[in-house]
Amino acid sequence: MITLLALSGSLRAGSSNTVLLEAAALLAPPDLRITLYEGIGSLPHFNPDLDGDMPPESVRELRRRIGAADGLLISCPEYARGIPGSFKNALDWLVGSSEFPGKKVALFNASPRASEAQAALRLVLRTMSAEIVEEASITLPLLATRLEPKAMAREPGIAEPVVAALTAFARAIATPG
Ligand SMILES: Cc1cc2nc3c(=O)[nH]c(=O)nc-3n(C[C@H](O)[C@H](O)[C@H](O)COP(=O)(O)O)c2cc1C
Repeated sequence: MITLLALSGSLRAGSSNTVLLEAAALLAPPDLRITLYEGIGSLPHFNPDLDGDMPPESVRELRRRIGAADGLLISCPEYARGIPGSFKNALDWLVGSSEFPGKKVALFNASPRASEAQAALRLVLRTMSAEIVEEASITLPLLATRLEPKAMAREPGIAEPVVAALTAFARAIATPG
């Protein structure tokens, strides 16, 4: 079984990025399990002084879950042409961690307009030594959709690219190197 940890860059209830990740969890092939990490809004502001021998429990929990996952599925909106502060904060807690470098990442994107945030995210993730799997990274025009995860998973125009991306991601994870 391949396990993926899904991280949404939006804290908003009904977030299109979160719903996309929840729909992906429903659509996951049988050999893939996707769980959503829901603690981003509860992480303290990153401060290197807190990142010593005993970082805050919420940070240790995030790092444990990153370490246990075979890959990360990230879907993040664009705020003011950049990465939302709360999501960048979560990434900052992972910069010095031993669990993050080398992680395979699939980037989902719920808005074709969010090109600057996507570019910024790619730069940050590569700087953190993540391995972005391009064939598993997709952009879907979901800005105006107000669908629940189950309804989103039933839309062929969404389900087909999501399943194709997840299948490509599982293949990349199973292929060493
Ligand atoms: C504070 C703020 C700033 C935003 N800035 C941008 C932006 O620069 N470019 C853009 O394409 N959309 C921008 N948006 C629109 C969001 O990216 C869009 O509403 C997206 O759907 C939010 O993702 P979510 O549905 O997962 O919460 C902004 C929204 C907010 C709340």
